Amino acid sequence: MHKDFREDAADAAARVLDTNWTGRYTVPATGLYPHQWSWDSAFVAIGTRHRNPRRARAELVSLLEAQWDDGRVPQIVYDLDRGDDYAPGPDFWAGVRGAPRPASGLVQPPLHAWSAWLVHCADPAGSTAEGFLHRVYPRLVRWHAYLHDRRAGAAGLPVIKHPWESGTDNSPLWDVALERVPPRARTPIRRPDLQHAGTGERPGARDYRRYYRLAETYRDAGCADDVAIGFAMVCPLFCSVLAVAELALGRVAATLSAVDGGATESDPGGHVAAAARLVAALDSHLWDDELGLYVALDDTTGEPVGRATVNGLVPLLLAAAPTPALAPGRAERLVATLTGPGFLGGGRYLPSTSRLDPAFDPALYWRGPAWFNMTWLLRRAVWALGRHDLAARLDEQTTLAVPERFPEYVDPDTGAGRGTRQFSWSAALSLDALLADERAVLPHPAPPRPPAPART
Ligand code: SER
Repeated sequence: MHKDFREDAADAAARVLDTNWTGRYTVPATGLYPHQWSWDSAFVAIGTRHRNPRRARAELVSLLEAQWDDGRVPQIVYDLDRGDDYAPGPDFWAGVRGAPRPASGLVQPPLHAWSAWLVHCADPAGSTAEGFLHRVYPRLVRWHAYLHDRRAGAAGLPVIKHPWESGTDNSPLWDVALERVPPRARTPIRRPDLQHAGTGERPGARDYRRYYRLAETYRDAGCADDVAIGFAMVCPLFCSVLAVAELALGRVAATLSAVDGGATESDPGGHVAAAARLVAALDSHLWDDELGLYVALDDTTGEPVGRATVNGLVPLLLAAAPTPALAPGRAERLVATLTGPGFLGGGRYLPSTSRLDPAFDPALYWRGPAWFNMTWLLRRAVWALGRHDLAARLDEQTTLAVPERFPEYVDPDTGAGRGTRQFSWSAALSLDALLADERAVLPHPAPPRPPAPART
């Protein structure tokens, strides 16, 4: 990319992040998403660290301060002044115990430890002076423990209890399980989201009736995870992000024990072992040999969900890790699927649902459009594998960011913007794609130090 283009695009991205910063955190978009969202903040911090590492640290700290007593990090932390601007709002979750701040009882993909590690690496001196890793490490450990313990499914992988927890709400991966949820909710359904994105670009009324019903059932059970609510799904994206986050936590733990000589209780090897367990379970239970990617698993029925989505390509992040690594041959098959007709081989940008899937729709939220976060994840995965040609191909999406005004998602063929605009993670991840240090793509365990040269 031309140097002037890079600088101008980076400045434009930083301006979006400045506009969406509230003083404590960054809203995903001022109209459509006017509160703090969990995995959005993790992506935002990854971009913000380049221009303002102190603010990136504050972003993660403010989210983690909303952690529940049981360790969960909530999907949404509400701003009560904007209570009516998004639905379901804070009233929906009022009365649920264990939350220090008004928040949703659901969660989102656990990208936070990886984000915290990248934020630390951007400014180790500032991070150390603030005690950033000391502050976030114990909370991140409790967050992962919540997922490993309270969300453990039969396959030894954590389950999600609602499509909103996947971060990919209306992906076809959830269709069958969602069909079991009665499409009737007691709460009146408001759709302020439709003021900010086209109707054909957002989940429909039938989806929303089930989303609300399922969220009501979970809330009315006190957000207890040992109560069966009819929806418990294992997502390949969620699980592989958790594995990368464990590797990142291993780097954080090793850094803490090096700086304070073991004063902080940390267990680098335990995190790497947790990542290895996740990868082994992912390989044993979620691989679909016919589709050539990972699929979701219905924990209620034990049935895999044979649908090809970008979620199933994200385990490619674990292909290059020396410890752990995917089963032999899987990386090559995933790359073949990524470059095949369902994904990059069938059009210009990376779709969220395979072009070959019957549900594919180039405009509709997670059923086809290309999202900047998925492109960013796959871009890091292929770079770590040494496939710089594919990384350059995925980078093409970054050139859409400025002319399309940092859209939430884009048409995977034409690149036309969809959803809301001035969307924070599109800006943050464009900034990262423009400025990131390629040597630190993934938080693999640090290589062993070479032995000190013998004195003569
Ligand atoms: N993605 C959800 C929404 O669209 C929130 O997490 O409202």
